[in-house]
Amino acid sequence: MHELLASLSPGSEEWILAESLNPRNLPRHIAVIMDGNGRWAKQRRLPRIAGHKAGVDSVREITESCARLGIRALTLYAFSTENWKRPGMEVEALWQLLKLYLRSELPTLQKNRVKLHAIGRTEELPSAVKRELEFVIAATAENDGLQLNLALNYSGRAEIVDAVRAMMWDGVRPEAVDEGLIERYLGTAGLPEPDLLIRSSGEMRVSNFLLWQIAYSELVVSSTLWPDFRCLHLLEALQEYQRRERRFGGVGEGEQKEVPVGVETR
Ligand code: FPP
Repeated sequence: MHELLASLSPGSEEWILAESLNPRNLPRHIAVIMDGNGRWAKQRRLPRIAGHKAGVDSVREITESCARLGIRALTLYAFSTENWKRPGMEVEALWQLLKLYLRSELPTLQKNRVKLHAIGRTEELPSAVKRELEFVIAATAENDGLQLNLALNYSGRAEIVDAVRAMMWDGVRPEAVDEGLIERYLGTAGLPEPDLLIRSSGEMRVSNFLLWQIAYSELVVSSTLWPDFRCLHLLEALQEYQRRERRFGGVGEGEQKEVPVGVETR
C-alpha cells in the first residue's frame, strides 16, 4: 500500500481514497471483467477497436496499481471462448493488440516485479501471439510481485470441462475427487480464490468467468466503461469491498453469540 501512496500526489482524490483504506483488509486476488470498450468507442463515433486500444491503457494502470498495492493476483478477462463470434477484423485486431501489449509491456512488468501467467485454451491462440506470450511468461517467471493472469480464449465452463478431462487422463479415481483436487486442475491452481470480482460498464453478469473460483467473491459493478477505468475506480471498488461483511455462508460477526429462540438470559 505505501508503494501506491508514494506514487500518488498527496491530497489528490486517489491519495485520499487510498489513505482511507485498511491495508490489512485488501483482497488477495482481484478478478476483472473488462467491459465497455465498444460503447466507449461508439460514444466517440470511433471503430470498436479504438475502444480496445484505449482499454490497454487501463490494463496498464490497473496492473501497476495492484502491484503497488501489494495484491497477490489479478486476473483479467481479455478474450472469451465466445469472442471468436465477433467480426473477423475485430478478432484479428484484438490479437494484434495483445501481441503489441506483450512486446511493449515487458520492461514495465519487470520494473513492477509482475509475473505473467495465462489461463484458458491458449494452445488455440494464433501462433505469433502464443510465441510472444510464452516469451513474456518465461521472462517474468522469477518475479515475486503480483501474478497477472490473462484469461485468453477462456470460459469458466470450458475450464471445468478441461479439468475433468485432465483428471480422467490422469486416472484419478472417483473417490479421490474433492473440491481441493478440482481446484488443483484449474488454471488458477495454487492461488487464493478471488476475494473481489469487478465488472466495468454497469452490466450485472458473470459471463462465464471463473465460475468455480468466484463462489464467495464480492461482486462490485462499476458504471465506468473499461477504457475510462483508472486507479481511482479501482480504489472506489476496494472501498466498496471493505464496506462489505463477508460471511462465507455463516453468520455476521455480531450475530455469532446470538441466543437461541426461547432461551432466557439474564
Ligand atoms: C469487452 O468490451 C472487452 C473485450 C472483449 C476485450 C478486452 C480487451 C482489452 C481491454 C484490450 C487488450 C487486452 C490486454 C490484456 C492487453 P466490449 O467490446 O464487449 O464492449 P461493449 O460491451 O461496450 O461492446
